[in-house]
Amino acid sequence: MMKPKFKKKEAVIMAKIAPSILSADFMNLERDIRAIEKNGGDYVHIDVMDGNFVPNITFGVPVVKAVRPVTSLPLDVHLMIDRPIRYVDAFCNAGADYLTLHIEADTQENTISALKRIAALGKAPAISLKPGTPAEAAIPYFPYCSMILVMTVEPGFGGQKFMADMMPKLRRLRSLLTEGGFDCLLEVDGGVDSTTASQCKESGADILVTGSAYFKAPDKPEFVKMIQS
Ligand code: DX5
Ligand code: ZN
Repeated sequence: MMKPKFKKKEAVIMAKIAPSILSADFMNLERDIRAIEKNGGDYVHIDVMDGNFVPNITFGVPVVKAVRPVTSLPLDVHLMIDRPIRYVDAFCNAGADYLTLHIEADTQENTISALKRIAALGKAPAISLKPGTPAEAAIPYFPYCSMILVMTVEPGFGGQKFMADMMPKLRRLRSLLTEGGFDCLLEVDGGVDSTTASQCKESGADILVTGSAYFKAPDKPEFVKMIQS
């Protein structure tokens, strides 16, 4: 039997990386943000927490505003706050490019109004789902969002263990979006590292958020390339 001339190459799944500054050195935030761009990162992920929606407090509007002139990368702002509609204008005006709201944080009506407002301000509206929220809960928001963020840890803290059991939800969202004809990016956030990244990509993720794994990586440009290819 003739041997095939070429060995079939394994499919390479590409993704974008959004390093999360939650794990940055806050005394050297400007240095760390400039390095994300230099190291080949695609977005800067900024985790906004209010101590109510999640049991942690992080950054607010002034930090987003201060970060804006430091990088040309898009700012991917993840709001983990109650009733985010109250702050949509402020975060968009501060320089957010993607603004992500948790669907668990307000009524469907308010969340849709907030998403429409983000789009009207010329920014990319996005929603996020906590681990306990099923894929189907996102359906009413499909027409209004450019990205859906699937949490693979309980929101609130960096450095938690990746929940591999969220992968079916990611695949389900991808097929629901395709069936409905929606052009929407899928992002994964929580516990993404060199081991778990491939599962996310295989399950349909376009953008991988990575906090502790990126900041701990001894060779960051190499880590970024590994996530992207
Ligand atoms: C957690 C945040 C994440 C966090 C991820 O609530 O939304 O963006 O920075 O950190 P790691 O990658 O360490 O899990
Ligand atoms: Zn996040």
